[in-house]
Amino acid sequence: MRRPMVAGNWKMHGSEAANTALLTELDLRLRVEWPIDVAVFPPFVYLADIARRLRDSTIEVGAQNVCAEAGGAFTGEVAAAMLKDVGCALVIVGHSERRRWYHEDDALVARKFAAALGAGLTPVLCIGETLEEREADKTEAVVARQLDAVLATNGTAPFAHAIVAYEPVWAIGTGRNASPAQAQAVHAFVRRRIAEQNANIAGQTRILYGGSVKAANAAELFAMPDIDGGLVGGASLGAEEFNEICAAAAVRH
Ligand code: PGA
Repeated sequence: MRRPMVAGNWKMHGSEAANTALLTELDLRLRVEWPIDVAVFPPFVYLADIARRLRDSTIEVGAQNVCAEAGGAFTGEVAAAMLKDVGCALVIVGHSERRRWYHEDDALVARKFAAALGAGLTPVLCIGETLEEREADKTEAVVARQLDAVLATNGTAPFAHAIVAYEPVWAIGTGRNASPAQAQAVHAFVRRRIAEQNANIAGQTRILYGGSVKAANAAELFAMPDIDGGLVGGASLGAEEFNEICAAAAVRH
């Protein structure tokens, strides 16, 4: 059985005061006996402090991005080993906002995925189509291309632990989530794609749904057989809402 996960992508939000308030509240609400993994992804500058603070908590910490290079003269970048060093367990690669605003292509995302693995971090690979691509019936072609780029260079074995997040671009931050059936169809497609290489590993790969997940829709999304939890943006910034989403994932178990 795949253990459900709820991951909070804070994006470029937060402050010392807001982070403290949010994490304190979350720690009070989250039930340790819930059979789920919970992770938060704060902006870089807060990572070391938050990882230290959550060392004895069940909440894991991840970064929202990573440099594909191992180290050296790359001003402004952060290496995977540094993330590991300050206590991160996970890192998001290929988020659509990185692809769109910072022109990250499939080849670069595949290298970032490899860098994460090399440092002992669990990559959370984001894939997903734009509205235009969906309307042109290209959803499967797009997610296959994004996934294949990573499979081709990293192989299938890492997907026993690596996480995939299906995030349709048109659903991110729009309040318009994919319907459970729409999301399930793509999740099943992604799992089949991995299964073509190795069915055993595909059965272990956690595939999260992201795009306007909130307390009101989490349960119906997480009830789908191939949706193993959520990558949550806006709704991860409030402890009560995020906690309710975690509760919905715990029911899935
Ligand atoms: P959202 O963002 O939940 O605010 O739609 C999800 C994401 O981009 O990871």
